[in-house]
Amino acid sequence: MSKGSKAAGGGYVKSYGCQMNVYDSSRIAGLLDRQGHAAVDTPAEAEVIVLNTCHIREKAADKVFSELGQIRQIKHERAEAGRPLLIGVAGCVAQAEGAEILRREASVDFVLGPQSYHRLPEALEKARRGERPLFIDFETDEKFRDLRRSDGGLDRGKVSAFVTIQEGCDKFCSFCVVPYTRGAEISRATPDVVTEAERLAGAGVKDITLLGQNVNGYRWEGRDGVWTLARLFERLSAIEGLERLRYTTSHPLDMSDDLIAAHRDLPKVMPYLHLPVQSGSDRILRAMNRRHTARDYVALIETLRAARADIALSSDFIVGFPGETDEDFRATMRLVEEVGFASAFSFKYSTRPGTPGAELGDQIHETVKKERLAELQGLLDAQAAAFNANCVGRSLDVLFEKPGRHDGQIVGRSPYLQSVQVNGPNDLIGSTRRCTIERPGSHSLFGAIEQGQGGEARN
Ligand code: SAH
Ligand code: SF4
Ligand code: F3S
Repeated sequence: MSKGSKAAGGGYVKSYGCQMNVYDSSRIAGLLDRQGHAAVDTPAEAEVIVLNTCHIREKAADKVFSELGQIRQIKHERAEAGRPLLIGVAGCVAQAEGAEILRREASVDFVLGPQSYHRLPEALEKARRGERPLFIDFETDEKFRDLRRSDGGLDRGKVSAFVTIQEGCDKFCSFCVVPYTRGAEISRATPDVVTEAERLAGAGVKDITLLGQNVNGYRWEGRDGVWTLARLFERLSAIEGLERLRYTTSHPLDMSDDLIAAHRDLPKVMPYLHLPVQSGSDRILRAMNRRHTARDYVALIETLRAARADIALSSDFIVGFPGETDEDFRATMRLVEEVGFASAFSFKYSTRPGTPGAELGDQIHETVKKERLAELQGLLDAQAAAFNANCVGRSLDVLFEKPGRHDGQIVGRSPYLQSVQVNGPNDLIGSTRRCTIERPGSHSLFGAIEQGQGGEARN
């Protein structure tokens, strides 16, 4: 979200979901801005509030209803003062439960599914007439076309940026709502992605993360042949000013040889990979419809490490999938021990209506899920701490992104996505310096800029 003037009539967008949801929120804020609703910092200052929701787990989906409860209060106060307030629900809960939201929450004025946010101006117009529009068709082509038109003026001044290059998912893991909320996999046209990346580089962005639910399944057929993610990286590597390329999220099945080679051959492709495995038990992987075994995953990691020895790995895990025995859970712990992750996310299985997992018997008791999650997180935290501790004494290139919490401090990212704090002037923000890592903190590393690097930024 970006800030704007605090004029009445402001727009407020709150993001609840994944990075694609955050990216969409910035586009929604851009659209609101063009409608005269410049971004404001709090709901209380806004004339239009858009909640960009996430449906991935029950807790995420519930948040929107508690938030709506609070906003309803603001709306009442506004009505009494004779000042308008429009409330919209966007994102994946909107897609899954849009009609239900309109029925349950009289305060909601419009609903926009994740492939329909380009229809925001039309939704606002209808909402002002009291029509309560529900836009939840899958219109990914139109959304991508709209992205091409957007000038993205709200990205200015940033060092790193997201670019969505692929939407939707055809994998249908049995626990997951994404194929239903985001629709079928579709890739954005390569020339549009390149144009957006060039525009961002021109605006000073140095680090781009390409986004998609299955971003490594990116595939676009141009007149000059098929564009894979690896080929796209080659093209983006040629953009002057761009220093770092990242991507998320990937599926192990789409980790193709050319992409692995890109980690070896393209210096701008960062040595970091988020590759969810979910479980280390073949029985559970099968029930999850992941379509690979634990061995396949470990073998893939070995191939990646052979191509790029220092690659830092991150993953997602689910504990307590229906039918998960203690032995299945031990297999997950063994996989984590074997691979060694730099960071990871782990979740308790959450039953999602409409997914095949919700139909399965043998749901795991909450207490067991809690215990397993705590044990897994203990191991993953220890591995993350070990990874950070291992960086002490090393020289890492740090791309500075913002001022630190204290005066005279600046904060940046290592190639492995760690946050690094050093003492240094604000005018280094946007440039890369080699730093010696001195000590690990709880969520970041502390270091010092190495001397004798001249005025030139490194990459
Ligand atoms: N497309 C990505 C990410 C999907 S959502 C992928 O394929 O990995 C991000 C993570 O949320 C998933 O990797 C999974 O670990 C978790 N997740 C998805 N559905 C879930 C559910 N029903 N319960 C708990 N965690 C879930
Ligand atoms: Fe969900 Fe699986 Fe698709 Fe990832 S690959 S979005 S976990 S269905
Ligand atoms: Fe959530 Fe939708 Fe992203 S369900 S994780 S906001 S794709």
